[in-house]
Amino acid sequence: MALDEESVGNLKKQLEKLFAASLRVTVPDEPDVEPIITVCDKESGDYQCNNAMKLWPRLQRKATEFTGRQSVAQALKNNLPTSEMVESCSVEQGGFVNIILSKQWVAKSIHKMLMDGIGTWAPKLSVKRAVVDFSSPNIAKEMHVGHLRSTIIGDTIARMLEFSNVEVLRRNHVGDWGTQFGMLIEFLFETFPDWENSNDQAIGDLEAFYKASKKRFDSDSDFKERAQQAVVKLQGGEKKYRKAWQQICEISRKGFEKVYERLGVRLEEKGESFYNPYIPMVLELLNEKGLVEESEGAHVIFIEGKKAPLIVIKRDGGFNYASTDLAALWYRLNEEKAEWIIYLTDASQREHFDMVFTAAKRAGWLSAQGNKYPRADHIHFGLVKGEDGKRMRTRSTEVVPLINLLDKAKSGCKDALILRGQDREWTEEELMQLEPNAEAIGYAAVKYADLKNNRETSYIYQEKQMLNDKGDTAVYLLYAYARICSIIKKSGTEINELKKVGSIEFTKDAECVLGLHLLRFAEAIEEACTNLYPNVLCKYLYGLSLAFTGFYSGCQVVGTAEESSRLLLCEATRVVMEQCFHILGITPLERI
Ligand code: ARG
Repeated sequence: MALDEESVGNLKKQLEKLFAASLRVTVPDEPDVEPIITVCDKESGDYQCNNAMKLWPRLQRKATEFTGRQSVAQALKNNLPTSEMVESCSVEQGGFVNIILSKQWVAKSIHKMLMDGIGTWAPKLSVKRAVVDFSSPNIAKEMHVGHLRSTIIGDTIARMLEFSNVEVLRRNHVGDWGTQFGMLIEFLFETFPDWENSNDQAIGDLEAFYKASKKRFDSDSDFKERAQQAVVKLQGGEKKYRKAWQQICEISRKGFEKVYERLGVRLEEKGESFYNPYIPMVLELLNEKGLVEESEGAHVIFIEGKKAPLIVIKRDGGFNYASTDLAALWYRLNEEKAEWIIYLTDASQREHFDMVFTAAKRAGWLSAQGNKYPRADHIHFGLVKGEDGKRMRTRSTEVVPLINLLDKAKSGCKDALILRGQDREWTEEELMQLEPNAEAIGYAAVKYADLKNNRETSYIYQEKQMLNDKGDTAVYLLYAYARICSIIKKSGTEINELKKVGSIEFTKDAECVLGLHLLRFAEAIEEACTNLYPNVLCKYLYGLSLAFTGFYSGCQVVGTAEESSRLLLCEATRVVMEQCFHILGITPLERI
């Protein structure tokens, strides 16, 4: 059977196709049965088909030629179309059909990927455009470790979709609107009367500025009143107030940019204020659908099963976080034509998004079925905790600024690199040259330590552990990658030439294990993309490095009869690892 071009790479999908064909012949009267293929962890198979167990009770009720699960499995095996990819099938006790893949086919498929590029192993998603709303810190407040997860996980999710050929609009939905700006602007006028002529540096630490203005707001009723009027003036578009607001935003923005630059994260800011002009129209649309009701002086949307309704216009007539999110959702669907909108915040906002999405479904904006497009998903995540198991803080009340963590990871890496070369004297220049590597490894360590966890769970930030060069860490992975590069380099072979003339052949088990793992990349990335779980990809990458270590310790590469085949296997591992690193936002190094 010819392979469907659509599913090149994804082994499970290709086997599903073969078994779907067998099912149609074996049980023509059961057209709704889908093939069930899973990875087999026994010696006797690489994959297995589990359909017979489910089918038998159904068939038993009808008069068929089958005598039990085993006989159904046998028929599924017999009716399987011949395929290059399957070496052999066997029926196991209980009705499993175990499948062993053809080694030649695995080797050939890897070679094909080397020729055609890893893009041919990308998942085929049915969406064209998606919005990923991530990072989204609040103006005048420092970005802290809580925003770290949103930024890191959001960037990876955007990269996963981009690899799958989805156009991604990376949105930074910064909190740049709301009543707190009245207070900030009024405080700016008071403390820096010459604010228009002073540069951004004047305010200095914006967070301290925020705290001081809040203190003033809470303790002085005159100030409070002026601040409230300032909000009205700002929202009414009065020039002076707009300008002050912009200046405050700009200072925050510069701080955020520094973090994004260091993390290599690209984001486009469309803050809350952007959607403000759309709110009245959007609420009117919802009103026309009969969704908006008046309750205790506010305008609300009641959501079934929720005690409190979603407030969309406050009692004082002002809009809020929810009305902004409804307008943003409308804009993304209708103006930006996105089919999938993905939001990343911590778990505390679950209820908010749940209500916003339910309202949008009732309005007919989103598909009523969660897995159909247009769809919206809230990707929530747990807390980052300190080594004491408590929420990460510096002093009792303050959150840890993100930038401190990055600095510490980088300097920790630099120390480790220096220690590695302990026998030598480092010159000033050499130490300088360590900087970019220390930075790449340090940031990779922070990212990987976050991404490898199931995002829904909280995790403990263990600096020492994440910088360990053994175990499931970015440091270990980066060293493994650098080792592969050095093997290829030492061989003196021009890989691009070898690709054209050489071929891959397996002679040892460790090569087959590595080969099969390489081919499973397509499956791993597809699973990670459909369910938006970066940890699936991390687990795959770690497994790949282990498979490579197994191969490398059992199979000499350079100077053997198998040299060219094994070099191609090294190159394929390098290419797949590089792609995984890219998706995880990690910069691989050829030499460490
Ligand atoms: N600024 C918010 C916060 O820091 C996150 C915004 C998330 N995005 C959204 N569309 N609501 O909690």
